[in-house]
Amino acid sequence: MCGIIGVTGDEASCELLLAGLELLEYRGYDSAGIAATDRSADPATSVVWRERAAEHAGSIDHLRGRAGSAPASIGAAVGHTRWATHGPPTEVNAHPHLDCTGRIAVVHNGIIENYRDLGAGLAVRGHLLVSATDTEVLAHLAEEQVAAGATLAEAVALCLGSLRGDFALAMIHAAEPEVVVVARRTSPLIVGVTATTGIVCSDVAAALATTRQLFALDDDQVAEVRPGSVVVRDRTGARVEPEPVAVSWSVQRALKGGYPDFMSKEMHEQPRAVGDTLLGRVQADGTTEIEELVLGDDELRRVRRVVFAACGTSYHAGLVGRQAVERWARVVADAEVSSELRYREPVLDEGTLVVAISQSGETVDSLHAMREARRRGARVVALTNVVDSVMAREADGVLYTRAGPEIGVASTKSHLAQLVMVEVFALHLARVGGRLDQGAVVSVAGDLLDLPVALEDALDRRATYEAVGRRFAACENFYFLGRRAGLPVALEGALKLKELAYVRAEAYPAGEMKHGPISLIEPGAVVVVVATRTPLWEKVMANVEEMRARGAAVVAVADAGDEETARLVDAVLEVPHVAEICSPVVNVVPLQVLAYTIARARGNDVDRPRNLAKVVTVE
Ligand code: G6P
Repeated sequence: MCGIIGVTGDEASCELLLAGLELLEYRGYDSAGIAATDRSADPATSVVWRERAAEHAGSIDHLRGRAGSAPASIGAAVGHTRWATHGPPTEVNAHPHLDCTGRIAVVHNGIIENYRDLGAGLAVRGHLLVSATDTEVLAHLAEEQVAAGATLAEAVALCLGSLRGDFALAMIHAAEPEVVVVARRTSPLIVGVTATTGIVCSDVAAALATTRQLFALDDDQVAEVRPGSVVVRDRTGARVEPEPVAVSWSVQRALKGGYPDFMSKEMHEQPRAVGDTLLGRVQADGTTEIEELVLGDDELRRVRRVVFAACGTSYHAGLVGRQAVERWARVVADAEVSSELRYREPVLDEGTLVVAISQSGETVDSLHAMREARRRGARVVALTNVVDSVMAREADGVLYTRAGPEIGVASTKSHLAQLVMVEVFALHLARVGGRLDQGAVVSVAGDLLDLPVALEDALDRRATYEAVGRRFAACENFYFLGRRAGLPVALEGALKLKELAYVRAEAYPAGEMKHGPISLIEPGAVVVVVATRTPLWEKVMANVEEMRARGAAVVAVADAGDEETARLVDAVLEVPHVAEICSPVVNVVPLQVLAYTIARARGNDVDRPRNLAKVVTVE
């Protein structure tokens, strides 16, 4: 987690850093800080200027208020927005951290696992470490190398060998006032250089105001960035020529565009996200084509098992993928949480295809699950929203969603794009494997292509979903139930409510309630059930009766106009009817709005829920 940014050259300013940090804030907002060198000061003696604030969501505004004390002619600067791992979110633990001389400043994303050992060694050698973070050792390690005559870039390169863990770091040094040095291992780092400026950051969004020509640093590379030039070296010290690519995302797509918050904007963009993701991949005649998948038809026909690996909301897309692959392609499929898969010593062989799903393409557990699968001989595909992300680059093939930048911490449009992409993949696998006849392929393709319109319809009903949300906003115990395609929807609905509204919400297969959880049902409980018409509708409604008999209020996601369901429950969230296996794409929408409404009614910040970060780059 954490977002880092660095800039050097004519455009280096506090405002550029702070605007960049605002775009990176989704990565963490426990504290923020900036540091800068002064071009007009004596490089032999000057120290870096630094300001930090630990005011959670207000930290960046606070820094803006203090930017007046920054040097008038900034040479290079770094900034950081933090999701606390080591040490509480206080100002003393906020980045940038300094060395003993106050001449070197570092910002860091990731974890230095052996920081205790490194810190103990530094203390013995006379360094004074003042924070509880794992990061501060970096500044002091570089200080030692610089004192021995190294440039900042050489110092960073020399330190890398002693570091264990995953990290992206950016450093400045008052002795080289126009240089930013960056290095990374696993955590992402993007670099861009124009004729007069150099920029580094965790995410392309923060660089777009400066340049679209960007490249991602590889593991264990060090880049010395100056205004107008960059020197990249690999772990052996050999020079590497970076190959910048033009990024097509626009800055506007990462701004709120008149909506009260990113979540509203991003929910509103869902029909487009799904439509864009389908574009060119599925045709009405049943043709499917996924260019970046790379794996050819013969290779796909050899796949004996598909394993979806993911975390959080992305895992719920994996659960839908499992159903679609089994139903359509008749290939054995599993979905597993990455943090479990990677340590379970799983059986994954050449016949297995692991599809790692990650909006960001950098969730550390999913990345490591992918690496573990590869080590065991499986083929790996990354299903991600971020072009050229770490996972996209490491996988054998890619399935790109085209949701555009997503800033709200709770994923909405990217999740819907994931759902539709796993279905496109399953249809492709089924078609290539000859497991669905042409009529069925055409029918599924039609169902998928109808989804953007169905989503517009669902979003048009938003006011009715909000009314239901307001009605139950004060309740404290929610249960989400579903069967088959309804289960991942229930899991996602409960997760959304927990993470946004901070309300206890449990999700269960509807048939499991009577194996324990039903004992928790009493008046005051709210049961949200996915009760759209499927062959299992009657069974779902029997479960609903059991809940109502014990005093729970029942809210049902139901097909529009289904009066029978409406009569049997306390409130309905009506959705347009779509084919069952595609239904999660539509049925999740009212549950997003439900969580949003309850969170807002409780005064919560929906874009920045407490304790969470959008990108989880630590285990
Ligand atoms: C965090 C976010 C979730 C997201 C999960 C996985 O927990 O808050 O919204 O689903 O990470 O992220 P990924 O980028 O791998 O999809």
